[in-house]
Amino acid sequence: MTQADLDDPAALAAADPWGMLAAVAGAGAQARAAGALAEQAALVGPMPDTVVVAGMGGSGVAGDALAALAFAESTAPVVTVKGDRLPAFVGPGTLLVAVSYSGNTDETLSAVEQGLKAGARLVAVASGGRLAELAKDRSAPLVLVEGGSQPRAAFWSLVVPVLSAAEAAGVLRPLRSQVAAAADALDADAAELGPAVPTAANPAKQAALRLAGKLPVVWGTGQLGVVAATRFRTQCNENAKVSVVSAAVPEADHNDVMGLEPGLGPGRELVLLRDPPGEHQRDGLRLAAVREALGADPIVRQSGDAVPLARLARLVAFADFTSTYLGIARGVDPSTIATIDRVKAALAAGAREVNSPGAGGAPPPGAGGAPRLGAGGAVRPGAGGGPPPGAGTAVRPGAGGGPPPGAGEARRGEGLGARP
Ligand code: PA5
Repeated sequence: MTQADLDDPAALAAADPWGMLAAVAGAGAQARAAGALAEQAALVGPMPDTVVVAGMGGSGVAGDALAALAFAESTAPVVTVKGDRLPAFVGPGTLLVAVSYSGNTDETLSAVEQGLKAGARLVAVASGGRLAELAKDRSAPLVLVEGGSQPRAAFWSLVVPVLSAAEAAGVLRPLRSQVAAAADALDADAAELGPAVPTAANPAKQAALRLAGKLPVVWGTGQLGVVAATRFRTQCNENAKVSVVSAAVPEADHNDVMGLEPGLGPGRELVLLRDPPGEHQRDGLRLAAVREALGADPIVRQSGDAVPLARLARLVAFADFTSTYLGIARGVDPSTIATIDRVKAALAAGAREVNSPGAGGAPPPGAGGAPRLGAGGAVRPGAGGGPPPGAGTAVRPGAGGGPPPGAGEARRGEGLGARP
């Protein structure tokens, strides 16, 4: 796809049949709805000794966001777990926040099982599935988010309740004004980076065209920039179907910089996601030295100087728009994730076999009911960024997709009273 195509609304609509761009552009509304929902949830203290966020992929990044925000203000350590096993320190003093959009992700359910056995206090964030059932069974606080899109398109629906759980426990300062500022920043970025803005004036389209056919190498500065670099990588993986290297400054100066030596290796483009307020005073010098040494002219996006969540929002919006345009420029559907679906289906089938070799055995955690694919079986065609599993062969929705996820559709935390 050429620059002209990225600026042609009909070509964009045809290349993005499930509406990933609409979902990204609706992030501000999604953040506002998530803020309102989280305020109604019964999330309470006490202040934990430790916080662990368990979640994978498009859900697990919510834990990265919490750890980055907590870095500067929490006395309790915050650890993100992306796997089945929890660290040995988990116990009755641990707040365990489990986040799974589908609610059926094996690793997250395993971690929850282990955490509950160790006496950890559980808060669950899910659109349904086994995780929601488990939270209800245990009378644990549950924030039930709207289903029907891809997990990565529900970023703000997941991040806000995870942060709110930490806020309610005293780990983060009050968040309300930060969520509002993040939503405003997302709206502003949609106005700057959205599909209606031509390439000549659109940094995300320009970045996507520069990255096409190259290996993107993305570095983040400060705690928030590093989260955004991870988000940039995973969004390019899933939206554009490309491999990406991501790294943190200043650590990257001690290793990853060697992979950028000119004249060696495949074509690469360096992307810098900078959060100046979160940088060490020497980071600017460090980056200047790298530019000088490599003769590199990186793609640079800065977070500005707003409150932390709004700064994260700015960098995430850039990652989300750029990766979607990159997918479109490469001629792939940004929404579908056929290989992830296939891998999960194989694992689910294997789990069923192991757990019920004969007929009539009990299903394994997460294998019952809804398929553990895509958005956990709650997928609605046309919901924005949300194709069903195997959508490569499915009937496609009409042009224009549906409303962006979270736009006035959030559901209340189930069975929970208002937070005082
Ligand atoms: O983006 C995706 O679809 C994946 O990275 C999922 O988020 C990941 O597989 C975990 O699934 P869930 O978010 O439903 O827990």
